[in-house]
This record gives sequence, structure tokens and C-alpha cells, in this order.
Amino acid sequence: MTKTIFEIETLINNRIKEIQNMVADDPYRLHYHLMPQIGLLNDPNGFAYYKGQYHIFYQWNPFETKHGIKYWGHYVSDDLVHWKELPIALAPDQWYDINGCYSGSAVVHEDKLYLFYTGNVMDEEGNREAYQCIAVSEDGINFQKKGPIIHVPEGYTPHFRDPKVYYKAGKWYMVIGAQTSEGKGEAVLYTSPDLESWSFQGPLAGSGHNGLGDFGYMWECPDLFELDGHEVLIICPQGLTPRGYEFNNIFHAGYLAGEVDYHNVSFQHGPFTELDRGFDFYAPQTMMDSKGRRLLIGWMGNAEEGESIHPTTRYEWIHTLTLPRQLEWKNGKLLQYPVVELESLRENQIEYEDVPVHEGELSLPNIQGSVFELEVTIKSGNPDVFSIKIGQNNQLSYDQSTNTFSLQRMDLADNHAFEKRYCVLEELRSIRLYKDTSSIEVFVNEGEEVFSARIFDYPNEQDINFYANGSLTMDVKKWELKKLKCL
Ligand code: FRU
Repeated sequence: MTKTIFEIETLINNRIKEIQNMVADDPYRLHYHLMPQIGLLNDPNGFAYYKGQYHIFYQWNPFETKHGIKYWGHYVSDDLVHWKELPIALAPDQWYDINGCYSGSAVVHEDKLYLFYTGNVMDEEGNREAYQCIAVSEDGINFQKKGPIIHVPEGYTPHFRDPKVYYKAGKWYMVIGAQTSEGKGEAVLYTSPDLESWSFQGPLAGSGHNGLGDFGYMWECPDLFELDGHEVLIICPQGLTPRGYEFNNIFHAGYLAGEVDYHNVSFQHGPFTELDRGFDFYAPQTMMDSKGRRLLIGWMGNAEEGESIHPTTRYEWIHTLTLPRQLEWKNGKLLQYPVVELESLRENQIEYEDVPVHEGELSLPNIQGSVFELEVTIKSGNPDVFSIKIGQNNQLSYDQSTNTFSLQRMDLADNHAFEKRYCVLEELRSIRLYKDTSSIEVFVNEGEEVFSARIFDYPNEQDINFYANGSLTMDVKKWELKKLKCL
């Protein structure tokens, strides 16, 4: 007999009661990021604005710190900063989702909140089945499953998942992450007049389409939306090989921008651009809020990226979501920056203007800490190298000889080694960063490039040192950030 959602909820709540004190003892618990109360969190799902509140769901395995059978955890917020955890929205309790309610999206229609997700089913031999399913709510808390609406079409393997639904010119559309029978990653398009009956339109983009060449064996978590007149398709292709400074995360999240031809089902697009240089970023999801902003939240993690050696697993939890970001298209680029509401976390501002940095290291009174926001604006000067060192191991560095900006952290697998991620930058104008007990999110040049990473130094006060090879002047602002009571 399968358990009812109430029985499952009780099991989860009992487990939370049993281990919550141990989880809370972890010094790496974050202060203002969304984490699972216990167990493993991965993709953000169903990001939506419904009846005056932001909803974010997440892939959750409450019983282990490994991937496995997934539920949909659920948080709501009035302001994208303070969140409240609601009961699980979806549990794997039906024949069509018994091995996991996998990722998906949400839309609001006729005052109801509709969830679209992938039902994952595995047989005893490990063969997979995938069903795109629907669940509906009238209060944003309790969801009624309506079962599968799409089966895997001819020509595709059961790696067919992560439906993202949107409305355009009088029709509903759905993009799904897919793998063809030949083992190529694609994003396929469906359309519907009523959210219930869906018809297959064909592949919109993929490995071998629209001049992309060989581009991975599976595309996960697609998201298609319009941003300031450009159509943007976010995808997470698996199976790309690193190319110089690009594609160095284990799996990648990036976008293609261009124009969709809905009539011929095709997408003329430019090159694939990574959204975040890492180390830990995957499966982002966007939504348009009531203020007309395109907002994005990602998973600050990556499957198989040191998960088994994450220090937080000793405390029975793992992973977090990124901060919410606003997207904007400017001068041919997609920009990302933290939503303005996050400024409400700030306290104890410290500010320095026109600080000269010459050869050697510089520290500034009260510019240190382990949980803070830091803004550095380059005012003048053009040094060969400019770096900010945070604690013993973490360093942000701009190197003019290679035109690169990098983030360095300690290698989790070897505490005596460092690892780096890079992006190419024409010039460095500003750095804005959010540091939490065990994470860092760096926004370079007003959001032209972003780095998100988990870092596991000892989370006490940390020194911040500035270094220039050459000289420059900079403005520095630093805030402490409040700890959210809801976490
Ligand atoms: C991406 C992903 C999705 C899938 C989900 C399962 O991280 O693999 O494709 O729906 O995670 O948790």
C-alpha cells in the first residue's frame, strides 16, 4: 500500500524532530539562503507569483543526503527575502511518479496554481519511464494531482523531463528537456489550448540543430522567455567537454538568445553562454513577477560535484538555492543582479571612498567578517592585477595580461590545493559579492558575469585583503547581513 501524503508528511516531520538539533549545530548552516531543513535539496521548481506571494518549490529528498526519490518542498515569501516553509507540495505516491516527483514549473490560471512536473518511474531492472504530470491548487498550499498529460513521444528516450510552461499570444506552451534515441540533447516544444491536452510540435533547439554542432547527450531544465525583446532559452546540457575558460563545471547552465519561429518550430540563436561560472550552479528557473521583472533562482550545487565529501552531510543536510536575481538585457548581454529587496538584510554599513591600493596588500578597518555584502568600485587606475582575498583560501582576481577574472577556493577533495573558475573580461569596473557562512555569490561589472560557489573554510571572522600590481583607487562599501529567523 502506498502512503498518503499525510502519512508521508508525518514521517518527514518525525525525522525533522529527531535530527533538527544536530542539523542546527552545523556551523555551515546558511544565514539568508534557502536550505532544506534536513536531507538533500536540488533544483528550484515551480517559481511563481500567486495571490500576492512568491512561491518557490524545490527538489527534496528528506530522508537522505543523496539523490534518490524526490519530493517537492515548498517555501513562500512576500518579499523574496523572508520565507516560510509550507508542507510538501508533491510526494511520490502514484504509479506514475512513484520513484520521484522530478523538476517542473508552475503557472497561474483562473485563480488556480498549476504545477507541471515529471513523474519518474523505475522498474526492477532499472528501466526508466517518464510522465509529464499536472497538479492543481486553489489555495497555494494543497495540491491535487491530475495525472499524466504527456507520454514520451516516438524518437526519444525516457530521459524526457522538466516541463516549463508559459503563455504566449493566446496559447500555452511547454518546453521539455529531452534525449533523442540517438543520444542527443534537445529542448522540445508542446502547445495546448487549455493546459490539459498537449500536442507535440517538435524540437526547438538541440545538439546538431541551428548550427550548434555536437552539444551534449541530454538537455535538462529548459526555460524559455522573452527578455527586453530577445527570446532566451535557458538549458542545462550534459556532456560538454571543457574548452579553455569555458564549461569547467561538471554540468552546465547557460542560455541561447535569438528568435523563435513558432510556425516552423525552430529557433535562430547565437552561441551558448554560461550563466554562472561556478563552481556550484545548475538548473536555474525564472518567472515574471507582478512588477514585470524577470527573476531567476538557481541551485547552488551540481550533481556529482563533491557531494559525497560535502562537510554538511555529517549534519544530515546538503545544498542550498542561490539568492534571487533579476535579469536584464543590455548592450547585447544578459545581466544578472541580486534583487533590490535583499538590501533589507543590510546593517552596519562601512564605507570608504577613493582608497588608493598600491603594490602589496591592504586591509581596511572593519572590512572583514564571514557573513556580509561587499561592493568594490574601481574609480581610477589600471593595474595589471587586482585581487581581493577573503580568509585564507578564497580569492577574486582580475588579470589584465589574460583579460580574465577568476574565483579561487580550496579544493574540497584536497585541503592543500586550490581550484579556480574563470571568465573573460574586457575591463574590471565593479565587484559586488554576497558572502554567507559557506557560500559566495559574486556579481562582476553590474552583473555581466556571475560566480556562485560553496566554500567550506572555518566560518568565523575572516580577513579581507586587497592587492594590486600597479595602482588604483577604489570605493568600498560593506554591510553585515541579518540572519533570517525563518531558517
Ligand atoms: C537536474 C535534474 C532534473 C531532474 C531532477 C531530479 O538537476 O536531474 O533533470 O528533474 O534533477 O531531481
